[in-house]
Amino acid sequence: MNATLKSRSGFFPARTTYEHLSFCSEDITQGSLILVNSHHPMQTSPEAFDLIDLNSQQRDLLSPHPGKFENQLSHLEHPIEEVYLQKQAATMLFSLIKKAHAGGAITAVSGYRSKAQQLSIWEDTISREGTDFTEKYVARPGCSEHQTGLAIDLAKAAPSIDYICPAFPREGVIASFCNLAPQFGFVLRYPSGKEAITQIGYEPWHFRYVGFPHSVIMTDRQMVLEEYLEMLEAETSPLKPLTYTQDGARIDIIYLSMKNRQKIEVDFSDVLPHTLSGTNKSGIVLTRFRRS
Ligand code: DAL
Ligand code: ZN
Repeated sequence: MNATLKSRSGFFPARTTYEHLSFCSEDITQGSLILVNSHHPMQTSPEAFDLIDLNSQQRDLLSPHPGKFENQLSHLEHPIEEVYLQKQAATMLFSLIKKAHAGGAITAVSGYRSKAQQLSIWEDTISREGTDFTEKYVARPGCSEHQTGLAIDLAKAAPSIDYICPAFPREGVIASFCNLAPQFGFVLRYPSGKEAITQIGYEPWHFRYVGFPHSVIMTDRQMVLEEYLEMLEAETSPLKPLTYTQDGARIDIIYLSMKNRQKIEVDFSDVLPHTLSGTNKSGIVLTRFRRS
């Protein structure tokens, strides 16, 4: 937005450029940083986002399903045939696989799941493996981040793949994939050592798209999404952004609280490209990109 401001004297109008942004409470539940866990259920329906079937795109990059996990899932009440992901996450996943030269070495096991599908998996895993195992590796229906379309389970291509705990060993091109993942916006969502925070066991196969540079900061600081959002909430504001710098580009990350508010308005003294994501808690994260 451009504005002509009057100088203090009134004789020499000064021309300046500023940005006025306004957000509403619906913004809280959408975006690549939303936290979905046992305390924060998914609140948005899939119609709100753009899902694409990974196996119908760039087939050379993903290894096909071995018989669609026949022995493990064929009896589910809500079967899972295709692997869907939100478009931006899918695009970045394909770029990452290319960069890691991992084409053909990886199978996409599970992406977007509806609440009904998560319920089928939850009940099926309880009957096969018991409650302790299920609570460790399967999120409760309504509380799975697979419902966001931003999470993906990956396996090393093999004739037989475990649907719930796929093998994704840190060797060869899979090690390269894991090392490069943060640069493409992905984090390992359930790392070892963070089980008390995530309430989920170590899952070397489960990646979550949170977007760059959040993915790099989280990985560098060894923070899971719960910790990262808490840090942004506690330490940042429009006047005190978290600043990330890479290759001469500076990125400001700002948390905006929407607690007890339907709408929030904020002004900046410059106009910059930005992205916006809700936290699925009580606020919004604004990410502003500047060149230097
Ligand atoms: N395996 C993860 C925790 C899920 O079920 O969402
Ligand atoms: Zn998963």
